[in-house]
Amino acid sequence: MRVIIVKDYNELSKAAALEIAETINNKMDCVLGLATGSTPEGTYKELINLYNDGKVDFSSVTSFNLDEYKGLPADHPQSYRYFMNKNLFDHININKNNTFVPNGMAADIEAECADYDENVAKHGGIDIQILGIGQNGHIGFNEPSDFLYMNTHLTNLTQNTIDVNSRFFDSKDEVPTQAVTMGLGGIMKAKRILLLANGSNKAQIIGKLVEGKISTNVPASILQVHRDVTVIVDESAAVYLKKNIDKRLNIVE
Ligand code: F6R
Repeated sequence: MRVIIVKDYNELSKAAALEIAETINNKMDCVLGLATGSTPEGTYKELINLYNDGKVDFSSVTSFNLDEYKGLPADHPQSYRYFMNKNLFDHININKNNTFVPNGMAADIEAECADYDENVAKHGGIDIQILGIGQNGHIGFNEPSDFLYMNTHLTNLTQNTIDVNSRFFDSKDEVPTQAVTMGLGGIMKAKRILLLANGSNKAQIIGKLVEGKISTNVPASILQVHRDVTVIVDESAAVYLKKNIDKRLNIVE
């Protein structure tokens, strides 16, 4: 696991966007794994800037999002499909037919989940997976639990996730209690993983992710066994990191 500590959110967003753009420039038809939430918003803005400057071309790119709330239609302002269109897809030259977000409205959720994993496999797997991290250690919506899931599945959101995500909704009651999420197997199959975190409210979980034990109570900790994970954090999310910090390069190996 490589950890890069940058000064602030602005630097984090620029560094992440450059990594993604480089992946696309090295493989025009690459497959991106994408996340929603507050963390990657700046990265998507920077990617749009790079696109407007002619530095990246999305015309052959395919994308798969990690998750979607159950019961929110694509045109609901808090659905993750809506988020992706608004924050990225509407502003770049990606073919929207090549952008996939789980369908939280599917009548047969089990079939939707199986089809989603099959579709990722059909496209050759994910080249670079972007992740945020929940304060409780979730990635995608793989919540802390006694056991973890391999494949895309329907999950119950924890009260913590509902409380934290209620900031996007008018009231807590409106937050869906379930979501369709890629499983940890699907995430771990990505060739590269880029996890982003900023702010002091992520400091504790970043400490656990990088230096803690691998535990189903911290689902993200499984990333410690992936071959190619880069964690980019800002200074305030890095305050609990103690080990081997090369201050000069700001890289922990
Ligand atoms: C979103 C997702 C979640 C978020 C996490 C952090 O697609 O999968 O795991 O990455 O909840 O959210 P923010 O960035 O809003 O703190």
